[in-house]
Amino acid sequence: MTTLIPTVKELQAYRASLKGSVALVPTMGALHEGHLSLIREARSHADHVIVSNFVNPLQFGPGEDYERYPRTLDADLELVDTLADAMFAPEASDMYPYPEPFQVEVGPIGRILEGEIRPGHFNGVATVVLKLFLLAQPHVAIFGQKDAQQLAIIRRLVHDFNLGLEIVGVPIVREESGLARSSRNSYLSEQARADALALSGLLSKALDCPTAAELLALLRTHEDSSRVTWDYRLAVNPATFEEIDQAFVGEALVVLAARVEGVRLIDNALVNLA
Ligand code: PAJ
Repeated sequence: MTTLIPTVKELQAYRASLKGSVALVPTMGALHEGHLSLIREARSHADHVIVSNFVNPLQFGPGEDYERYPRTLDADLELVDTLADAMFAPEASDMYPYPEPFQVEVGPIGRILEGEIRPGHFNGVATVVLKLFLLAQPHVAIFGQKDAQQLAIIRRLVHDFNLGLEIVGVPIVREESGLARSSRNSYLSEQARADALALSGLLSKALDCPTAAELLALLRTHEDSSRVTWDYRLAVNPATFEEIDQAFVGEALVVLAARVEGVRLIDNALVNLA
């Protein structure tokens, strides 16, 4: 049975009552198998598992889907019933009681790729995650590799602010079709679901590329349905997110972002290049 914690104050009291180690899994709810795999992983790292379920307004830009983002608290609670000890689901006014709250300013890694297309997004992510860390005081926090740039930024956040907790990354969970699981998949029509396979399809082709030269050529020239609008498709250094060049050898991260019927999708995979 998962304890629902609806306020900041109650989370602080709950945390103070715990003995032993704590794992935190930050989410925005609308939970799916990807989230559940993070929560199962959390269980193997700590005595207590806290899941946060909060659609964070600071990380949505104007015109993005903050209002229509799926909110399914009752179903979420049922899904984690035997997996999580507590679910923290605060109101936005409780997390941010003042207008224009102070925010974490992320460095250059937060201003490229997702950060360039969604200005301010990673400041909002870093701010809410820092608040969640301060409130839940976890020994370990679990994040998905699905949001690879977010994971790298959280690692920097922990390092730069000497937060001293462990960050664990969990592999991407996919549907049978190859589509990476996402709360935003619920927006997709049947046609869009088929078109969305362009992302995982391109990743499988990328995995077959033996060299950086071939990978970069594939990413530059690959064509698919005109219903898919690519925001970027790049190969980057997994630590810095800087683009690799033709001479690169080692593990590169292929990062993809596209819109299908206006729904924004991201995906990525590590490719070993000789
Ligand atoms: P959300 O999109 O709900 O994702 C919560 C966590 O689940 C993230 O760490 C994300 O990478 C992971 N995740 C999502 N889909 C996944 C999949 N298919 N496989 C593996 N992991 C997956 O990411 C956020 O929320 C927010 O930005 C948050 C960190 C909670 C801050 O508000």
